[in-house]
Amino acid sequence: MRQKHINLTAYDDCELKEFYDTPEKLDEYRRHLFLKTEGQKEFISKLFSGKFTMLEACSGNSRLLYSLAPYLIHGVGVEISKPRYEFAEAWKKALAIHNITNINSDIMKYESRGECDLVAIMTNAFMYFEPIDRTYPLKLLKRCNTWLRPSGKLIMELRDYGSILNSAKCNGNKATVEITFPKADPFVGTKTTYKWDAENKYLDLNEVFTGRAYGAQYDRHEILRVYNLNEIKELLGQAGFKKCSVYKNTVAPEPSEDKIIVIAEK
Ligand SMILES: C[S@@+](CC[C@H](N)C(=O)[O-])C[C@H]1O[C@@H](n2cnc3c(N)ncnc32)[C@H](O)[C@@H]1O
Repeated sequence: MRQKHINLTAYDDCELKEFYDTPEKLDEYRRHLFLKTEGQKEFISKLFSGKFTMLEACSGNSRLLYSLAPYLIHGVGVEISKPRYEFAEAWKKALAIHNITNINSDIMKYESRGECDLVAIMTNAFMYFEPIDRTYPLKLLKRCNTWLRPSGKLIMELRDYGSILNSAKCNGNKATVEITFPKADPFVGTKTTYKWDAENKYLDLNEVFTGRAYGAQYDRHEILRVYNLNEIKELLGQAGFKKCSVYKNTVAPEPSEDKIIVIAEK
């Protein structure tokens, strides 16, 4: 059998049950996830005047869907990592949320009817697809288009990694960045080694996570396609989107000078 691309397995060790060794630590981490999502919630909840239906591709632990639950008629999250899906399901139960469905699947294999008001692909997730297969980005956008009702919206959040690429370009296409996480995170932080492949516009990330009380250390390896604003606009047009607004900004209260926001209409 052909081995799965690393971008499809990068989150297989993420949010494992054993990282949260007491209920208090788990609660603290969940509260931290909600805080981290405030900016996105504020921004997205204002895109519609009434309640709306939403599909999130690559939904992770479903923090965005749960934050938006009061604004949603119904939400669906599609996430490939089994532990992340399980984390999301346990959290949903604790929150007693009934209008969100989590699905553990590859978004490229997901089928749905065209009835959503909003499709979201957040936190760089769109950047995973080209290194797996060069035809995937356009295919995924075309699929998003079919999942939307007429005039439905697509929102994406990406990064152009401007400052990291600038430092890599001065240093043989390599850069290393260390980040410390807030206390509520089960990890102290990460040390990430970036390698830039300028020809393909691929950024190879090797993140080493250092555990806190749990003591674990683990590596996450992924390859992201870095896009500029024009490349995104062109793909959206080819996928049949109209009124595409693609700009550098933030919908999250995190360091954000290199974020790209996409809002496109079917
Ligand atoms: C950077 S995380 C973002 C998660 C979430 N959107 C957030 O903002 O918290 C990217 C997520 O995409 C998931 N993912 C990657 N490829 C996928 C695919 N083909 N289908 C579904 N999920 C995928 C990963 O497992 C990971 O949880």
